[in-house]
Order: sequence, then structure tokens, then C-alpha cells
Amino acid sequence: MTDSDLVRAAIAARENAYVPYSHYAVGAALETADGSVYTGCNIENASYPATVCAERTAVFKAVSEGHRSISRIAVAAAPKGESAPFGEAAAPCGVCRQVLSEFMRPDGVILLARSETDYDVCTLGELLPRSFTAKDLT
Ligand code: THU
Repeated sequence: MTDSDLVRAAIAARENAYVPYSHYAVGAALETADGSVYTGCNIENASYPATVCAERTAVFKAVSEGHRSISRIAVAAAPKGESAPFGEAAAPCGVCRQVLSEFMRPDGVILLARSETDYDVCTLGELLPRSFTAKDLT
């Protein structure tokens, strides 16, 4: 799957975002080491802290199906009424960066989408330098 394919999957996953409170819809699509693809959307809750981000939905789907190595993730985020191309490319929140760091190497790729063909390419290490990981617990 190309980067552009993964971005397209994130934009499609965004359609399922459940966002009655923020009206901000996010989609994510990740690829695992063996080439499997999992998607996710944000799912909000009347008890706001119970909300889960799109990235974590995708990560938890992958891990719960036995995948523990994520190589790439694409994220597409914008207010609900908008469709791609989005004005600005949002990056994963801090909690999602931390969750990604459990299953993704620092050189793992994060694609921040404006449209299927227009996206920023960065690495987890760039977004979460000097991260807290299992190595700190030894
Ligand atoms: N959100 C995500 O899905 N991913 C992020 O990385 C940032 C925020 C969601 C959570 C909430 O449903 C909405 O965007 C507004 O914060």
C-alpha cells in the first residue's frame, strides 16, 4: 500500500467519526509490519473524557487482532462539515503519540493529510522525542 493509499483510507475512515460534541472528525489508517491495514475514527462520549481519538481506535483494533508492530499511520482531521482538501494538517495528540510509541519505532512514519495527494510526512521520533518507554522501567 502506498502512502497515498493509506491517506485515502484515513480520509474514508473519518466518515464514521462519532462527534456530536466537538463536531471535529478524525480518521486514521495504519499499516502493520506484515502489511495489514486497520482504520479508526474518533468516538466521543457524553462523559467527555471517555472519548477516544481516531489514532488510538486504530491502534487498539490492530493490537487486539495480534499486531504489535506498526510501521506507518495516516491521520486526516478537520471539522465535520469539511471534506478534503483540509486547510491544515493536524498532528496526533500527546496521548496518541505515547500510545503509538508502544508499538511503533521512532523511525515509524506518520502522514498528516490535507488531501489524498497532499500530506506532511514525519516520524514518531520527530513528534515525540526522548519518549518514556519500557527501557525506562528496567
Ligand atoms: N482527536 C483525535 O481523534 N485525534 C487527535 O489526535 C486529536 C483529537 C479527537 C478527539 C475529539 O473527539 C476531537 O478530536 C476534538 O478534540
